[in-house]
Parts: sequence; C-alpha cells; structure tokens
Amino acid sequence: MRIVLLGAPGSGKGTQSQRLVEAHGVPQISTGDLLREAVARSADAATATPLGLRAKAAMDAGKLVDDDIVLGMIRERLAQPDAQKGFILDGFPRNLAQAAALDALLAELGRPLEAVVLFELDLGILFKRLTGRRICQDCGRVFNIYTSPPGTPPHCERCGDHPRLLQRPDDREDVIGKRLEVFEAQTKPLIEFYRKAGLLRVIDADADVETVFQRLEAALR
Ligand code: AP5
Repeated sequence: MRIVLLGAPGSGKGTQSQRLVEAHGVPQISTGDLLREAVARSADAATATPLGLRAKAAMDAGKLVDDDIVLGMIRERLAQPDAQKGFILDGFPRNLAQAAALDALLAELGRPLEAVVLFELDLGILFKRLTGRRICQDCGRVFNIYTSPPGTPPHCERCGDHPRLLQRPDDREDVIGKRLEVFEAQTKPLIEFYRKAGLLRVIDADADVETVFQRLEAALR
C-alpha cells in the first residue's frame, strides 16, 4: 500500500491513518507529527534547532512550513526499513511543489503512488472537529469533546482517570481560519493534479469513524 490521504484540517486523515496502520501494517507518515516532534525538541534550549524554531513559527500561525524542511523529513522517513513495505502519507504533499518533489523521489526509489484519497467534509463540521479535539499528553490518544468525549471523570484507556488533555495550539479558532484558507489556496490544486494522474479517489468523510473507514477501504480496493 503506497497512498496519500488528502483533505482539509480536521477531515479525519490522522484518525483513519491509524485504522489503516492496524489493518494493513504499513506505517503512517504524518508531516504534522514529524514537525511537532521537531518543535517539541526545540522547546528545550539545549536541544533547540533552527529547523524546529522555524517550523514552530509557521505552525503557530497556521501557515505551511517551508518545503525544504518538509521534503528533507519525508526523504529521511521513506528511507527507513518499515517504509519499504508501503506507507500512508498523511498531510503530505500539501502544495504542487511538494507533489512534484514526491513524484520525483518515488520514481527514483521505483515505488510510485498507488492511490490518493480525498476526504470531503463541510466547513462547519471541520471547524467543530478541530475546536473539539483534545489530545492525551502522555500517550497521544485523540479525543473530541463533541464526537468522542473522554467521559466523566475524564478517562484514557492507556493513562487512567484524569488524563492530561491538551488542545493543539493551532486548534484555536483564530488559527483554524488561517489553516482552512491555506488549504483552499495551496492544497486544493492537488485534487486536479492527482485526478489528471488517474490516482484520485473521493470519499464522503461525514460519518462515524467506522463508516468512513469502510468507505476508505472500499475506495482502495
Ligand atoms: P497536520 O498535523 O497535518 O494537521 P492538519 O492537516 O491540519 O490535519 P489535522 O491533524 O488537524 O486533522 P486530521 O485530518 O488528521 O483530523 P483528525 O483525524 O485528527 O499539520 C499541522 C501543521 O503542520 C500545518 O498547519 C502546517 O503548519 C504544518 N505542516 C504539516 N504538514 C505539512 C506539509 N506537508 N508542508 C508544510 N507544512 C506542513 O480528526 C480531527 C478531530 O475530529 C479529532 O478530534 C477526531 O477525534 C475527530 N474525528 C475524526 N474522524 C471523525 C469522524 N468520522 N466522526 C467524528 N469525529 C471524528
């Protein structure tokens, strides 16, 4: 399986990537997660890197991180042993330059993409999913105060009662608006790019997690 999941912020790419990892045993490669790890390392002055600091500034503002940073991360990640059997690209590519660079890299590796799945979802639902997202700080499990709440008292299957639940800094309302704008302007052109390449499949992502997963599996058959 060598696929890209394409969709606006909050459309469910990360959630469905996890399901695909469990079902197919290929790794999820999320540029958002890789960048957040680099940013977390930069929180400590001793381990801070210029790359982490540049990434943080862009992410906090809801803008895309520079292509050279992201492409370097992807090249390195695709070279790791677990990615030899396949990969699920989540949140990458994000603009036409990244898509062209990915094509060139995969051609060089002799491992072209098999499919690109677009998650379609209305703006109002995206907004609610993003403002409602909460993440367990200790194990990374993703909750949503509207659609998959942590319970009363709040409980995490891995971390017990009263987990430390965080809101991503870029899930604040003011930043969400900017992220959605960036999606419209820079990422949407990829729909036509992949349609012309004959790789695009489209699914309606407005349903519960299990139903969306079934639609995704059907689109990949
Ligand atoms: P990134 O981390 O990639 O964020 P994103 O694309 O904005 O996507 P999200 O993680 O917000 O949403 P998702 O679609 O994964 O939804 P999820 O499954 O979590 O990027 C963050 C930033 O990093 C970017 O803004 C940019 O600065 C930088 N960046 C990343 N990649 C880059 C690149 N390639 N180039 C340059 N910069 C880059 O679901 C959201 C919520 O909804 C959760 O609470 C979940 O529980 C809930 N939910 C999910 N599915 C359902 C469902 N079916 N029903 C009900 N609720 C659901």
